[in-house]
Amino acid sequence: MNDRLRSLIERLARERRLSAAEYVELIEGRDDEAAALLAAHAVRVRKAVYGNRVFIRGLLEISNYCKNDCYYCGLRRGNRNCARYRLTPDEIFACARRGYDLGFRTFVLQSGEDAALTDALLCDLVSRLKAEFPDCAVTLSLGERSDESYRALKDAGADRYLLRHETADPAHYAQLHPREMSFDNRMRCLRTLRALGYQVGCGFMVGSPGQTARQLAADLQFVERFQPEMCGIGPFLPQHDTPFGDRPAGSAALTCYLLSILRLICPGLLLPATTALGTAAPDGRERGILAGANVVMPNLSPPAAREKYTLYDGKIHTGAEDAAHKTELERRIRAIGYKIVTDRGDPRDVTETE
Ligand code: 5AD
Repeated sequence: MNDRLRSLIERLARERRLSAAEYVELIEGRDDEAAALLAAHAVRVRKAVYGNRVFIRGLLEISNYCKNDCYYCGLRRGNRNCARYRLTPDEIFACARRGYDLGFRTFVLQSGEDAALTDALLCDLVSRLKAEFPDCAVTLSLGERSDESYRALKDAGADRYLLRHETADPAHYAQLHPREMSFDNRMRCLRTLRALGYQVGCGFMVGSPGQTARQLAADLQFVERFQPEMCGIGPFLPQHDTPFGDRPAGSAALTCYLLSILRLICPGLLLPATTALGTAAPDGRERGILAGANVVMPNLSPPAAREKYTLYDGKIHTGAEDAAHKTELERRIRAIGYKIVTDRGDPRDVTETE
């Protein structure tokens, strides 16, 4: 690491922002020493806000039907080899109860953009979950919906919404999605969710086909501006039935580097060590936490569903990924000096802690 890179990192740690050109320098100049310095700052900042607590979210993959045709995703509608399923409300409740008993206090309902998931059905599900588990947060991750739908779901009791922006660069968005999908609509959805009072999560893939350092810099600056409560990032991983099936995977090391940068930009960010990161490297999730992440999202879906939720090849769904193996996950997290807590894991208002 040269002096210039060191001074950029020190300034980012102090001022929580850099120019786009400086982010590009930081990304292009990455080496082990720079990664270690960024991670040391990120860990210090995360400790000041959240201590050594790691939050868990119980992921419920409620449907893998999707009307979209994103070039990277194995759930795309054009993928005839994807065996489609949709959980019934009873199945969802059975998983949630099991999760609650294991100590989960956030449930994330995630799905493809499935037209059968109507507002009536989802609002009923959300309000019944909130009634049965009043001490739990309900997070939705159901893609783009209408303003009215987002409002109805909020009124039904949903607390949080995850909608990755995928990339903050419109030209790159167009490389990753068919023309019928709109960058502007994705951004509009995020603004609506924010205005409705959700805790909002955005996010992007690292190493998606054709992605440049300048585009990653745009993602970082988007996070600076939007100030989300959550941000999910993970390496792009090819799925063999998609148009990007033969493209190289994104790097776990660059993902961790960006996790550290995001922690410095938004000290209070809820930042998951994602399944994609855990898939890209066997110790990926631990490395994510050591770089500044503070959330893990084990899968509570029934095993048969999990196997069909094939966003990318090789998705881990054994070992600690299975909620039944939560103790194993706890052991792994404890081994690196952190502790999984039974807690909703709401964002901390960082101004309080300064
Ligand atoms: N590799 C990594 N992440 C992917 N996602 C979808 N497909 C892939 C892939 N092939 C991510 C996208 C999407 C989320 C559900 O998963 O960012 O928003």
